[in-house]
Order: sequence, then C-alpha cells, then structure tokens
Amino acid sequence: MEPQVEAITNVSNLVSPSAKTERMQLLNNIIAPLYISNDLCCTLERRIRMSVEWGLRLKNNPFTSIKCFPTYVKSLPTGKEECECLAIDLGGTNLRCILVSLKQGREPVLKERKAVVPISVQQGTGEDLFRFVASEMKSFLDSLPGGLPNDSCLPLGFTFSFPCSQTALAAAQLHHWTKGFKCSNVEGNDVGRLLSEALSAAGLNISVVAVLNDTTGALMSCAFKDPSTRIGLILGTGTNACYVERLDEVETADGSEGSMVINTEWGAFGEKGELDIIRTVWDAELDNMTPNPGQQVLEKMVGGMYLGELIRIILVDLKTRGILLVGAYPTQEFSLLQPGTFTTHHLCEVESDPLGEFTRCRKVWGKLGIPDPTDEDCFVLRTVCEAVSRRCCLLLAAGLAALLKKMDEKDVTIAVDGSLFRYHPHFGRKIEHRIQQLMGAGYKFRMLMSEDGSGKGAAIIAAALSMEQGSCSANSNQSSN
Ligand code: GLC
Repeated sequence: MEPQVEAITNVSNLVSPSAKTERMQLLNNIIAPLYISNDLCCTLERRIRMSVEWGLRLKNNPFTSIKCFPTYVKSLPTGKEECECLAIDLGGTNLRCILVSLKQGREPVLKERKAVVPISVQQGTGEDLFRFVASEMKSFLDSLPGGLPNDSCLPLGFTFSFPCSQTALAAAQLHHWTKGFKCSNVEGNDVGRLLSEALSAAGLNISVVAVLNDTTGALMSCAFKDPSTRIGLILGTGTNACYVERLDEVETADGSEGSMVINTEWGAFGEKGELDIIRTVWDAELDNMTPNPGQQVLEKMVGGMYLGELIRIILVDLKTRGILLVGAYPTQEFSLLQPGTFTTHHLCEVESDPLGEFTRCRKVWGKLGIPDPTDEDCFVLRTVCEAVSRRCCLLLAAGLAALLKKMDEKDVTIAVDGSLFRYHPHFGRKIEHRIQQLMGAGYKFRMLMSEDGSGKGAAIIAAALSMEQGSCSANSNQSSN
C-alpha cells in the first residue's frame, strides 16, 4: 500500500531509499501551492487585462491595482535622432550619470559614472537624495576631459524608475516609493523640478527635458533599432511593463489622436486581492518583512529584490519540517535563518547546472556555509528554485499576453531589460514559450534585449525633443504636447 504522506509530519529520521522517495513526495506536496495550472494562467491573463483596461478609465481607475500612468511619450524614435545629451538613471541601488552621443546610423556612444545609492540616502530626506544625485553629476562632468561638450545648456533625460503621475513629459509627481526607497518629502512632488533645483544649486547649467520610467527607456532604445517594438519590460530588482496605447483608449490623459506610451506599473497587481488565489504563506511572510506590506504584490513574486528571499523562507520551512539537510545542522544553527543570505544571484547559479548535475548547486551550498550537502539536498534546492522561477515566468507571460491582446497588433517586438532576465539561464525561453501558448501558435512576437535603455532611451527622448525645438539645448519643463 502507498504510504500516507499526509500522515508524516517530520521525516528527519527516515534514511532508507524509500524514505528518501517519501521525502521527495512530501516536498512536492509542500511546494504544490507554487504550481499554477494552464487554466489558472489564462484566468490571470484575463484579470491582468481587465485591470489594465480599468486603469485607463477615469471611473474605474481607483478600483484597480494597475494604474496605467500616461507618460506623455507620444512618438517612437525614427532612428534619425542626433544629439549630445545627458541622462540620469535612478531606480535602484545604483545611480548612473551618463553622457550620450547619438548619431544617425551609429550605435549611441555612452560615457558614464556609476555610484551606489547608500541605504541612508535611499531612506533619508528627499533633499539629501537630490543633492546626492546633483553632486554625482557634477563630479561626472568635472571628470570629462575638457568639461561639458559645449557651453550651452545640455538637455537631460531623467530615468526615474518609480510610479509617477505625469501631466507633461518633464512634469512627474512621484505617486509612491517602491523597491525599498523611502525618502521623505518626495511623494506627491514633481521629481523633474526637484532634480532641476538640485542641479542649479550645484551650479550646473542643465535642462531636465523629460522624466521617464525605465520601461519607457527600454521601449525607446529598442524602437530606435526595431520599429515593431511596442512593449518595454523590466525584470530586474523590480518588475514593470509599458506599452503603446491608442490615445482614444486613455481617459486619464488629454487628447484622442495618435498614441501614447503607458507605464502600467503592473508590479502593484494583486493589491486589490487579485492574486490571493496563488498567494502562499511564504509570500505573506516575505511581505511582512518589507517596508511596504500589502503593496507591490506581483513584484514580490517576480522581482529580483525578492525572489532570493522568498526561496530562503521556503528553505527554512523545509529544514524545520525535516525535508532538508536531514540530521545535519540543528535548525537553530542553519545559516539561512539570517534574512538576505540567499540571493537571486544564487537562484541563477543553481538553475545553471544541466539537469541532474549539481556542480554549481554544491558551490552555492558551500557559499551558504554548508560544504557537504547530499544529492537530495541539492535536488531539494534545485526543485524549490525551479518552482519559484516557473511561477515567475508564468506570471510574466500572463502579463505580457494581456498587453499583446489589449493592443491587438499582429507582429510585436517586446524590449526587455533587467538583471534577472539577463542573468537567469532559462527565463527568456520559458516566458516566450508560455506567451506563445496563451496567444496561440500562429501569433508572431519576439523578445529583444534592450541594451541600456535607461541611458539610451532617456537620451533618445531628450534628443527628439531638442530636435523638434530646433536646437540641442532645450528649455526646462517643456512638454511634448
Ligand atoms: C518598480 C517601480 C517601477 C519600475 C520597476 C522596475 O516596480 O515601481 O516604476 O519600472 O520597479 O525597475
């Protein structure tokens, strides 16, 4: 008779081969809530699509978690943009100050300076944050041989990767912070203005002509090369997507002709309970540890800032239940008890092993202070990583299919950027496969890595605007309207 796996609550004393099999069966039962069936994936796609539709409607917007912020980016690049522009990329741990030279028919040339934004700055005052940004820009410009490329006021595109309500291209009010940032006096304020003021206070003659999200940057930099690009996806620290929508569908922005890039801010999906059907106890535990519990529900299931921690929480649970490192390391000495010890980088390493091999997996265990894992321990770790990654890919595919169906265009390129997408060995293929399932076999689309959209995309928008105005030095706070 088959053993009653449900009856086993602690298997740490089981050592025979059949006990190992039972342990693996028990593992599968425990992690089953991470499994999303094809039907459920279709349901989620429909829910995301409906949330996007509501986000665009004035009446329904307050009741949806996908806010669909208008970006005021109304045209895609022609590939003819030429200019020398500055860009600032602020959206996570790193701040980048960039000088971009755009020349028709050539790859954009970038010079940049990178700095880590200290946690004290991420969670300090807004004044300190923008002072820090301006002083980094000053040091960057001072380091350029010969200083600024010319004496005139250079246009700057500000990639600010947080949810913003925009009323013009350069007027963007921070809606709320995400990804661990918590600076005071910024929410509700115009970040384009705050940056302009800090740059002038630092004695810099720079004109902030556009504020954009990193998703828009990714979309623009790919569209510069591939005119069928219609979606920008970020899968890095956080997740988000933007897409090109017909203006007559967007009740939250003025005008009805042409189209506009919409920053969906889909990382918030689930804040109205839409993901409760797949939310696990581990997701709830992770959420409670974040500075913004209850918010960014999808992002916490998908973003690189959270996946490692989610896996760590599951591994601690498995250790406590006697599924992992059986008989070795008393639970209270388990190195993974410490938050932050398992990272998304570890996840990518573990899944880089060919199936059935555990070379990298063992190295990861070693880095975690466990030099002698058994094959079963490696198997458990790999299985948990795969289950979390699989759920992540399904959710992203559901989101992307929702946008593709909403746009209803025939042949679409999806621009993608972000460290998790870039470094995970299988994400690209898995997401594409699921999108194809959701869209049907005949549907044509492709995913294209965007190379530094936050720098190039910002420069392309700034250049387009400057060229429209007939000079490369645009005035500040002008919209594209
Ligand atoms: C977070 C931000 C969003 C950004 C994404 C990726 O979700 O709210 O604006 O695009 O992270 O960086």
